[in-house]
Amino acid sequence: MTNGILHLHLLMALIFFIALWRSRAPWTNIAAAVGVILLLSGAYNFMTRMEGAPRGWHMFIGIKILIALHAIVMSFLIARGAGDEAKLARWRKSALGSAGVAMLIGLYFSNFARG
Ligand code: HEM
Repeated sequence: MTNGILHLHLLMALIFFIALWRSRAPWTNIAAAVGVILLLSGAYNFMTRMEGAPRGWHMFIGIKILIALHAIVMSFLIARGAGDEAKLARWRKSALGSAGVAMLIGLYFSNFARG
């Protein structure tokens, strides 16, 4: 179950990134829906992957969660579509940036930091 949810989280992260990239209907709604799944699966990963976590895990995963929350909230705002062209483009860029950093930290701790 633990690995299954981690892989689901990975798949959702990829879909989230692609949906933000495309950033027009229906992708904006897909990004927001996938954002909710990332939140739930991420909370589960946080509880299950804490045991035997490597040095620095707690701090970096804490930072990752804050960055991920930023990306998810931006995806909600983008899906709502209130904002002119320039504002939407800015929101999209900042959401993509945060999602990218969240993915790098997550991938590092899942696959490289656990010797
Ligand atoms: C924009 C949203 C998010 C993205 C793009 C994202 C991305 C990722 C990726 C790519 C991984 C690695 C998965 C793997 O290697 O199979 C990961 C792991 C993880 N994520 Fe997320 N994530 C997001 C949101 C969250 C949230 C909201 C939480 C917590 C509430 C969270 C907690 C975790 C944890 C605990 C891990 C496992 C770290 C470890 O194995 O030590 N993530 N995430």
